[in-house]
Amino acid sequence: MKEYLNRPIKEVIEEHPVVGDILNEFEIGCTTCNVGSCMLKDVVDIHFLPPEQESVLMERIEKAIQGGESREEQTPQPSQGRRTGKGYSYSEPVRMLVEEHDLIKRLLALIPLIVRDIRANGLDRELILDSLEFIRYFADRFHHAKEEEIMFEYADREADIIQVMYTDHTTGRNHVKSIFEALDGNDKETVIKHLQQYRDLLTEHIKKEDEVLYPWIEHQMDNKEIEAMHRAFNDEENRLGPETRARYEQLVKRLEQKLDTREEVQS
Ligand SMILES: [Fe+2]
Ligand SMILES: [Fe+2]
Repeated sequence: MKEYLNRPIKEVIEEHPVVGDILNEFEIGCTTCNVGSCMLKDVVDIHFLPPEQESVLMERIEKAIQGGESREEQTPQPSQGRRTGKGYSYSEPVRMLVEEHDLIKRLLALIPLIVRDIRANGLDRELILDSLEFIRYFADRFHHAKEEEIMFEYADREADIIQVMYTDHTTGRNHVKSIFEALDGNDKETVIKHLQQYRDLLTEHIKKEDEVLYPWIEHQMDNKEIEAMHRAFNDEENRLGPETRARYEQLVKRLEQKLDTREEVQS
């Protein structure tokens, strides 16, 4: 078993697919995660299961690797529940980030409507530029900057999961750049392609942060560090303008109303 602990999880799942099924039962989505390079031992550490669940998980993985549990014999177990599910409570500063995700998810939910609108009516520059303004200033400058410049200071920046978050942020910025270029060239299909890819990327990214990254980081922090992070978040918000959050909530609301009205007219 020891040798397996230091092997990349993707390799272990490839050799023993039942291990992927067991992890899914514990709501650890390694089979769909694109991190891929985590070691088996990191997977357990990063996902921060309660100790009793962790030992059940490890026993079952060990049994599966030794051939004692095959996919055919496996009896589906009820979901084991996660600490990030109901009942998990984030610290105050982390809750600020999770609430920002909620607003970002409202914008992501509009993307299929924007795509439909482009297909039906062509490129509405104002609508797309307003969406890009939200993405660039709220999702990126306001939110991702807090993660990159403040929160990640409290974790090992070299850890796989942090590196993946940086890569996701950069990929998101590249999608935005491509949308601007395609908009200039009046290239509808490329605008649509990058909007959809941005939506898929951020949907997965937010899920990883809410369920894995944030609990993993805050469980390494003591109360003083949590308080210091909270102060730093507030300072950053004041620096960017205390009205920023409300302004972008209004922007999303306006986009929702605009697209709602268009949907009604079209249906
Ligand atoms: Fe992020
Ligand atoms: Fe985030």
